Amino acid sequence: MMFTEIGTNIEKAAQFLLNEDIVAIPTETVYGLAGNALNENSVSKIYVAKNRPHFNPLILHLSGINQLNQYAFPDQYSILLAEAFMPGPLTLLLPKKSNVPDITTAGSDKVAVRVPNHTLTLELLHAIHFPLAAPSANPSGYISPTTATHVLEGLNGKIPYILDGGFTSVGVESTICEVKNDHIILHRTGGISASMLKEASGLDVIATVHQASTPHTPGQLKSHYAPNTPLYRGNIDALIEQNMGRKTAVISFQKDYSSRGNLDCYVLSKQGNISEAANQLFAIMREIDAKEYDIILTEIFPEEGIGSAINDRLDRAQFLHK
Ligand code: TXA
Ligand code: MG
Repeated sequence: MMFTEIGTNIEKAAQFLLNEDIVAIPTETVYGLAGNALNENSVSKIYVAKNRPHFNPLILHLSGINQLNQYAFPDQYSILLAEAFMPGPLTLLLPKKSNVPDITTAGSDKVAVRVPNHTLTLELLHAIHFPLAAPSANPSGYISPTTATHVLEGLNGKIPYILDGGFTSVGVESTICEVKNDHIILHRTGGISASMLKEASGLDVIATVHQASTPHTPGQLKSHYAPNTPLYRGNIDALIEQNMGRKTAVISFQKDYSSRGNLDCYVLSKQGNISEAANQLFAIMREIDAKEYDIILTEIFPEEGIGSAINDRLDRAQFLHK
């Protein structure tokens, strides 16, 4: 076990990274577990600390869009999207250049790249001379961290340093997309919605990620973003009815369901602001998971904007996928 320090010292974080060590970094979406993306030793430490399967590739974090050409071959539409949304919660999947090691992309000839919108991490990226490979800074499969304390809960003793940038501002992981044959494939929903992508590029957006409403083939979808407490989503009144007598936590968008039964209701946004709800989601899931509930019930969120990302994460957090 090593000692895990939390601090705001960019030089210290940079020093660890230069020494092939890994550190947690804040971004506007969730905290990342970062290492030198061009260094195989650093990247392998990321997989080990997270207990991440070796076939799951990592996102390259760059200091600016001027670096895109250094590690990838961006097409004209990807450049448009980068100019519109970077720095910001968008990840582009692009053909990779050979200077990006195979371990970083898990053998794929494509590389995922993004420019995080967080002052501390942008300063850090400018201080070092390599891109950072960074998955979310949680043990594989668990809820992504939105504070430095969340990172510590999952990775204490496994990493030397957590750069503390406060509570993340978006709260769910970046949108991942890819331009292909003059349309956009949406691989993961996030802070940049399908309509924003369409508006910026003029291209149609096709969602290949599973939709919250469509059924899945068993095994197609791995459990992810999942609390230890069993979580179910759907019609909240019916779910409450079915689970009478169990110690229940409800996660709701705007409405308070606490009078419906013997339960605790965690309202994500009293004002009905979908961005605020996304921002609170993971912290509330962690808070609930730390208490002794038998079950978590949650409703279907409005599909507008970042609401699709909330629905996607809650769907994959469901107990039936375990
Ligand atoms: O907001 C975010 O994207 C956060 C912050 C830390 O930047 N990162 C993040 O990383 O969510 P991670 O590893 O938890 O999720 C990245 C996703 C994974 O599902 C991975 O399979 C996919 O991106 N991905 C990364 N590189 C890829 C590639 N070359 N081809 C296909 N999928 C890729
Ligand atoms: Mg993750």
